[in-house]
Amino acid sequence: MSDDIRKKILALRQEVMRHEELYRKKNSPEISDFEYDKLVDQLGDLEREYPQYAGTDLGIGDDQAEGFQQRDHREPMLSLDNTYDEKEFQQFGERLIGKVGHRNALEFVIEPKIDGVAVSLTYEKGKFVCAVTRGNGTRGDDVTHNVALIKSIPRTLKNAPDILEVRGEIYMELSEFERLNREREAEGEALYANPRNLAAGTVKLLDTDEAKRRNLSIVCYGLGACVPADTFATLKDFKDKLIAWGFPVRDDIPVQKGIDAAWKAIGQLDALRRSLPFPTDGAVVKLNKLSDQKAAGATSKFPHWAVAFKFPPDQAETILKAISMQVGRTGTVTPVAELEPVLLAGSTVARATLHNADEISRKDIREGDTVRIQKAGEIIPQILGIVLEKRPADAKPFNFEARLKELGLDAAREGDEAAYKLKAPSTEMKVRRLIHFASKQCLDIDGLGEAVAEQLIALKLVDAPVDALKVSRAEWAMLEGFKEKSVDNMMAGVAAAKQRELWRAIHALGIPNIGMQTAKDLARHFKSMDALESAKLEDLLITKVGKKGGESYESVISGVGVEVSKSIASFFSDPNHRDWVQAMRQAGLNLVEKTTTQSVAAVAGKTFVLTGTLPSLGRDEARDLIEKAGGKVSGSVSKNTDYVVAGEEAGSKLTKAQELGVKILDEASLRKLLG
Ligand code: IVH
Repeated sequence: MSDDIRKKILALRQEVMRHEELYRKKNSPEISDFEYDKLVDQLGDLEREYPQYAGTDLGIGDDQAEGFQQRDHREPMLSLDNTYDEKEFQQFGERLIGKVGHRNALEFVIEPKIDGVAVSLTYEKGKFVCAVTRGNGTRGDDVTHNVALIKSIPRTLKNAPDILEVRGEIYMELSEFERLNREREAEGEALYANPRNLAAGTVKLLDTDEAKRRNLSIVCYGLGACVPADTFATLKDFKDKLIAWGFPVRDDIPVQKGIDAAWKAIGQLDALRRSLPFPTDGAVVKLNKLSDQKAAGATSKFPHWAVAFKFPPDQAETILKAISMQVGRTGTVTPVAELEPVLLAGSTVARATLHNADEISRKDIREGDTVRIQKAGEIIPQILGIVLEKRPADAKPFNFEARLKELGLDAAREGDEAAYKLKAPSTEMKVRRLIHFASKQCLDIDGLGEAVAEQLIALKLVDAPVDALKVSRAEWAMLEGFKEKSVDNMMAGVAAAKQRELWRAIHALGIPNIGMQTAKDLARHFKSMDALESAKLEDLLITKVGKKGGESYESVISGVGVEVSKSIASFFSDPNHRDWVQAMRQAGLNLVEKTTTQSVAAVAGKTFVLTGTLPSLGRDEARDLIEKAGGKVSGSVSKNTDYVVAGEEAGSKLTKAQELGVKILDEASLRKLLG
């Protein structure tokens, strides 16, 4: 019995870790947020009940990442306990009555639960000073540089308390999410899975230029530290003040008295939520009076005075007309369900991914079947399973390999990979690979877009993407409409691309599961393509063998888990791919991390903050110079800042630096320091 429980906990932990990686790194969740939350809750419940089998904290939800300055929250940022049905919700009410002690006097604030990233905005004497992510609840990452791009956040507050932490949720509007995904599609890149994931990734961008291209929004809902402490008596008072100061706040439902009224209001929100501009998967119910909140108390993770109610995801039934095969840039063949169009959660669904051959056989999905589909907080619909009673008598088990053959797709799977891959790249794949290679997020070869890529492949001037680096003048001149000027431009574009950062070359290889952020993490860790190419699985993952032989893995590089590690190892085990790297070398492409090779002693490891306009250096140029010399550039000033580089019209950062006694440099002294 006890061994069963131990095994169950272990299995759940691995399941949770697998989905966490699919979600965060591969951008292709296999289950909905709803199901994921339930798994995490289930694991939490079991570990609480059987602490003797509980593993180390998986750090789920801890968002702290490399490259950021950490900051302590003055008051912890807690998470919320989830409830899934009326009974669980009523139990939350009962517990409160026990603690706070007056049934009908309980006042509740009810709000939509925004599916985004929590952030804490600190104001000191009414001035916005910094934005910090939740992190582990006690300390998080300073993301002021990206959050400050959100225009709706007021910079100054009139009649503000001396210190104020405003808690809110950063999210991406559905329309913005769709716009960015259209761009990705045009570049042949894998689509972002959902707005929440994209918002989280954007908040954590180190590259401010990229962050500027993506519009984030915020809703504020909570009070952290406040000095003087008695400034607000109720949450409603606080929210009204936020509105007066100009913060975006959701005030859809008036304060409700009693748990039954709160339950009714949840129903009202359910009806309202589809018309909201942000993704929402639930309602949050909180006690209104701050004195009641205090009386209710909190655990180290959740407050007792608030709870999330998770709406069940929308589901529908429809007919699976056919299974088609989609070939991606890397040659992966993905089965896609072609559905009888059906309306689900406000949009028509006609296609859904079936992930891979195993998924189809595990669920015994057949053409002609009626399938149940679901859309939770996210955008991409999933197939949950089939409705066996509705199966047509003549439905045959789906034969994946036979279908590949019929379609003339020569594909196979390697090792324990779930996906089939084309053995030789198709023309379309070659074009898409080349577009990726030359795109802004990779080598950024000016002028090499879709039309040029198509011609290079059609004329057989390029086969593998790396061939683009050695196209000669005479060959460029073969392209339609290419006169001397365009040939010059292409030669210059390719020459410039050869000098770029290491991460670009890594990203350009198109290793499955390696996006731009992971490519940057890998470049920072390995520092050269040679080191990455010869990395063994054990350089990427630490394998831990349990007493009973079970294995678990731990990442060596933050964010590089099992799937990504295997993907890297498998990519470089292909001699063709090693030839690509060799061709990159021969073409003179930069394959080393520049920052560390030219490290300047006075600057290495030091933290800089840039503010104002410098006489000759642009922001990005200054940042580049500092980073190349081994320094770090942060968005906000703290006691950990070593230097503030101030130009004209430097604002609050300069004042803060003066207050904290941080060294201040102008452009000339920065240049001197950089040697
Ligand atoms: S109140 C003590 N209100 O959901 C925690 N949270 O799953 C008080 N969230 O950590 C949080 N919308 O990041 C609150 N209207 C809302 C919210 C909200 C989204 C987030 C928040 C919280 C998470 C819990």
